[in-house]
Amino acid sequence: MGHDPIDQLVREHRFVEGILDRAEAALSPTTAAPTPQALAAVRHHIGQLWVEFYHHSLHREEHLLFPLLGSLAPPGEGPVAVMEQEHRQMSAHFATVLTPSANAAQAGRAAAELCQVLRLHIHKEDSILFPMAQLTLSRGQLSSLAEQFARYDGALPTPPTPAAWHLADSRVQQ
Ligand SMILES: [Fe+2]
Repeated sequence: MGHDPIDQLVREHRFVEGILDRAEAALSPTTAAPTPQALAAVRHHIGQLWVEFYHHSLHREEHLLFPLLGSLAPPGEGPVAVMEQEHRQMSAHFATVLTPSANAAQAGRAAAELCQVLRLHIHKEDSILFPMAQLTLSRGQLSSLAEQFARYDGALPTPPTPAAWHLADSRVQQ
């Protein structure tokens, strides 16, 4: 097999951590409420994270990988359910940070929380979920997943704003 889709996800995590470093550096001099300049820098980096999160977490993982891991635990339980729940939590933070009308203190708090949750989330996927996926999935499933990733990556859609995505998502769940 030429291309391992789980390795692709792991490489994407390293790329995301690079953006996370820059977002945290922009946040670090701020205390309660970021200055307008600091908030603009934070929003710039969090905006880049949203694009990665949309393609990587909401599409490659949730739409393509996670359904293959359904046998690991009963519905709503186990590592996949935890990852999905954290994705929802992070989407809400993205929406708060990237909604222009959010006040600086709220946006700063949400950005700091988002960075913290995302770092731990990446660690859990790398150390628990992905090794489980590599043990569980057959060669055939992995190569079909690699093809689906390649097809998706060949025509990346423009992500909606996190607020629009979050609203649409909570409607689905009602
Ligand atoms: Fe991930």
